[in-house]
Amino acid sequence: MSLQTLSEWLRCPNCFSPLAANGGLVLRCASGHSFDANRRGYLSLLGGRSHVVGDSAAMLDAREAFLEAGWYEDLRTAVTTLVAVEQPARVLDIGCGTGYYLRGVTEACPTAGYLGMDLSPIAVARTVATARAASRPGHAVVADETLPDPPLVDGLVADVWTDLPVRTGIADVLLNVFAPRNPAEFHRVLRDDGFLAVVVPHDDHLRELRDAGLALDIPPNKAEDLRVALGAWFALEARIGVSGRHDLGADEVASLIGMGPSAHHTGTEAIANRWPATNPVTFSFDVLGFRRRAVPALPRSRESG
Ligand SMILES: C[S@@+](CC[C@H](N)C(=O)[O-])C[C@H]1O[C@@H](n2cnc3c(N)ncnc32)[C@H](O)[C@@H]1O
Ligand SMILES: [Zn+2]
Repeated sequence: MSLQTLSEWLRCPNCFSPLAANGGLVLRCASGHSFDANRRGYLSLLGGRSHVVGDSAAMLDAREAFLEAGWYEDLRTAVTTLVAVEQPARVLDIGCGTGYYLRGVTEACPTAGYLGMDLSPIAVARTVATARAASRPGHAVVADETLPDPPLVDGLVADVWTDLPVRTGIADVLLNVFAPRNPAEFHRVLRDDGFLAVVVPHDDHLRELRDAGLALDIPPNKAEDLRVALGAWFALEARIGVSGRHDLGADEVASLIGMGPSAHHTGTEAIANRWPATNPVTFSFDVLGFRRRAVPALPRSRESG
């Protein structure tokens, strides 16, 4: 692992001064606050403050099974293409999950530095381990394996709803795929003129599963709502629709449901009953590219107040 590259991303969650590698697995700020990194190549700066929980191991297993089968490959290609044009030196994935999308970007931009951030320590561990294995072809993905080479991707366990323990202006590109957003903090950690890539589902995504009572509703106009919600900090620059229809059997549907927000509502028995054969399912997403505004355009009420 590289404590050096990890520390270059980070600031102290207590006093906000930069963190630096301080020997062994310790990261330390100038005020003397210190934090122990994990031997697997990531650091937790949650500090026990968070009451929300990230994705569970079962959800991550389902996500990994579904994504690694290649069903969302077109989406990953669209995200990668959008990001690669920026020729970023530093990419931060917020809500990285298993690191599937980040891995696409690492392949297109092999010399950049990466940080995968998630609330779930299991997710961050997987993101770091799979990136490490992919950068060393022929090596199996073993989460607790200690390898001599520095990982391509560093990892951070943190809560997006807090002041992020990430340095101001450090990232060229932020990636945010089906994950929560904190617009003011995204604006702070991006460099001037930085780029934010966001993926949201379209309201006809998984339409057939919804018709079968297997998936939750997706609110209409998510992309437009997002443009408005981020508008004070970011200007929409690109909008790419990615869609397709694919034949899925019960196993694939179980993974698809298990990795998302419907996981807690739909058991495997319900899936077997309601999806007994292989049938087509609609995939539909919006990939949105936002440019960081130099100065946040505050809402009118606050400007006049
Ligand atoms: C739907 S998954 C998407 C994961 C990944 N981007 C992908 O598309 O494969 C949402 C991710 O956001 C993480 N997450 C949820 N709440 C979070 C929070 N408050 N701070 C950081 N990450 C969070 C979850 O643990 C999960 O990995
Ligand atoms: Zn400090």
